[in-house]
Amino acid sequence: MAEPYYADDLVTLWLGDCRELLPGLPRADILITDPPYASAAATATTGWAKQKWGGNWGDMSLVTLMAEATLDAANLSAEHEVYWFADHLSYAALVPVFFRRYQLVQSVIWDRQALGMGAYYRKQTEFIIYCRTRGAPEFASKTARDLISVSPAYSEREHPAQKPVRLMTEFLANSASGMVLDPYAGAGTTLIAARLMGRPAIGIEIEERYAEAAARRLSQQALMAVT
Ligand SMILES: C[S@@+](CC[C@H](N)C(=O)[O-])C[C@H]1O[C@@H](n2cnc3c(N)ncnc32)[C@H](O)[C@@H]1O
Repeated sequence: MAEPYYADDLVTLWLGDCRELLPGLPRADILITDPPYASAAATATTGWAKQKWGGNWGDMSLVTLMAEATLDAANLSAEHEVYWFADHLSYAALVPVFFRRYQLVQSVIWDRQALGMGAYYRKQTEFIIYCRTRGAPEFASKTARDLISVSPAYSEREHPAQKPVRLMTEFLANSASGMVLDPYAGAGTTLIAARLMGRPAIGIEIEERYAEAAARRLSQQALMAVT
């Protein structure tokens, strides 16, 4: 395997295609990831989106294929947890995939506390599918709710789909310690959250500009921790 794009005492970031890299990586205990939702490609029936992707009328097969391929390729411990980000459309297609594989499947709604894109009930929320295998480590909170309100940190945005670090730390705080894995790392938010909590983490990002942003954010974080 080639050299990682970035590495420190806790975090390793790989530049490449997760379908190729995942099988060779160390075992992970928490898969927490925000993959491309691809819903626009599946639902575009008008305007520029139709020109770009065609109108394939709700064909979500790409979304489920991505989830199945990622879960098959990842080196996950026998007892593990998954946090899989989705929107309201990809969520509907993804739930059966996770139900077939996991003993427990739960839905969490992230309330962005801000007006989102679109029209006709504009989006303020995103969905996260949370899953556990039988015997996964004890869940830390007895009171964690399925609605989490966290504002996106737009002033610090390095990626168009960047998530707030605090959303990821909320999830990681509920889940046991162990290796964190984000195969669709973007600008590295999961890795930053893991590092903040002293958890080891591995990320993969296919686009160099985002891997570079992630590495920069991680280096800045490491620097702030020692000064
Ligand atoms: C929704 S973004 C993740 C954003 C991230 N949560 C953040 O806060 O910055 C999904 C990322 O997955 C990457 N990606 C898409 N296909 C990939 C693949 N096959 N392997 C690795 N990364 C991939 C995209 O380049 C994109 O940056």
